[in-house]
Amino acid sequence: MKTVLVLNSSPRANGNSETLTDSLIKGVQDAGSVGVKINLRELNILPCKGCFGCQSGHGDPCVQKDDMDRVYQAIREADVVVFASPVYWHQMNGIMRNTIDRLFAMMKTLGDKPRETALMVSAASQDPVVFDGLEANYKEIAGLLKWEVRGVIRAGGLNLPTDKAMNRYKNQALTLGRMLCQTY
Ligand SMILES: Cc1cc2nc3c(=O)[nH]c(=O)nc-3n(C[C@H](O)[C@H](O)[C@H](O)COP(=O)(O)O)c2cc1C
Repeated sequence: MKTVLVLNSSPRANGNSETLTDSLIKGVQDAGSVGVKINLRELNILPCKGCFGCQSGHGDPCVQKDDMDRVYQAIREADVVVFASPVYWHQMNGIMRNTIDRLFAMMKTLGDKPRETALMVSAASQDPVVFDGLEANYKEIAGLLKWEVRGVIRAGGLNLPTDKAMNRYKNQALTLGRMLCQTY
């Protein structure tokens, strides 16, 4: 059994990212594992101060005490961390970027167990250029965290969860959720 955490950074409740998140979590639960959803929009997460306190032994793990502590704890407990973000200006959105900046404080302790990761991004456009830079950057971040990338869903052509294209992506998310729970 695995614990799969999804960090959803969309500011839109029940939007495309959250719809994909819920499908992925259903797949996780179908596989008998535990799915945890965190809607980052509901948390108060301050920007990284760039103080390097975390690197010099100050803070546990960060000198700032805010809702990021909930994210740190959820990541510690997770075997898989899935990032679900809307595409903003061909990148992940600011809420996700802000949260990832704060992971800097966890870098020293993340070697406690191997972790895996996946990405789900939704955009209005279907043009690959919308996703290419974002996916490359995500993979670099995963490499720095030493997390193994298990899947990427590029959900293009979406403005609303009722858009026709959504059915296909929901199935992809469901399948990814099940697949993430397979053990070798
Ligand atoms: C500030 C902003 C910037 C956006 N930038 C892009 C973009 O560069 N390319 C694109 O295809 N869609 C862009 N979109 C559209 C969203 O990516 C798209 O509607 C997405 O599916 C929303 O996901 P959500 O419902 O999870 O928030 C942008 C939307 C906003 C609000």
